[in-house]
Amino acid sequence: MKIAIGADHAGYTLKEKIKKFLSQNKIEYQDFGCYSAESTDYPDWAIKIAEAVAKKEFDRGILICGTGIGMCIAANKVPGIRAASCYEVFTARLSREHNDSNILALGARITGEDLTKKIVEEWLKAKFKGNRHKIRVDKIREIEEKYFKREKTGLKD
Ligand code: RB5
Repeated sequence: MKIAIGADHAGYTLKEKIKKFLSQNKIEYQDFGCYSAESTDYPDWAIKIAEAVAKKEFDRGILICGTGIGMCIAANKVPGIRAASCYEVFTARLSREHNDSNILALGARITGEDLTKKIVEEWLKAKFKGNRHKIRVDKIREIEEKYFKREKTGLKD
């Protein structure tokens, strides 16, 4: 599995710890920034990771900011992205099983290192359950089709 990871200044330190965790677990990733704790704007990072995942250059993405919320809102503007902001393991798992989330948004000012690692671990291993959940996720896609001009994005599916 190939992961695209990114953070703003508030998520920078936690991103470095998650990178270490991914390396220890032999999970391939690419770090899209930021590269220091200097103040930056979270949408600038969210769009990089969201586009890379939407273009299927990466299997999934992880975004970290102070709360995870700004990253989540911004990433979900990109067609094909289903970003979920998770603060504990249960929602992280269900976001995969029910919603087929392809981006995990984390809040560095909310969850500590140990819990974050558990959230990431659970989210990475959980699988989309399809069936009735697919019908619902397809309906999300229909909403996207209604409001986004997909042809202008260059995304194919
Ligand atoms: C930055 O101060 C903070 O607003 C940002 O990291 C994030 O929490 C936004 O949702």
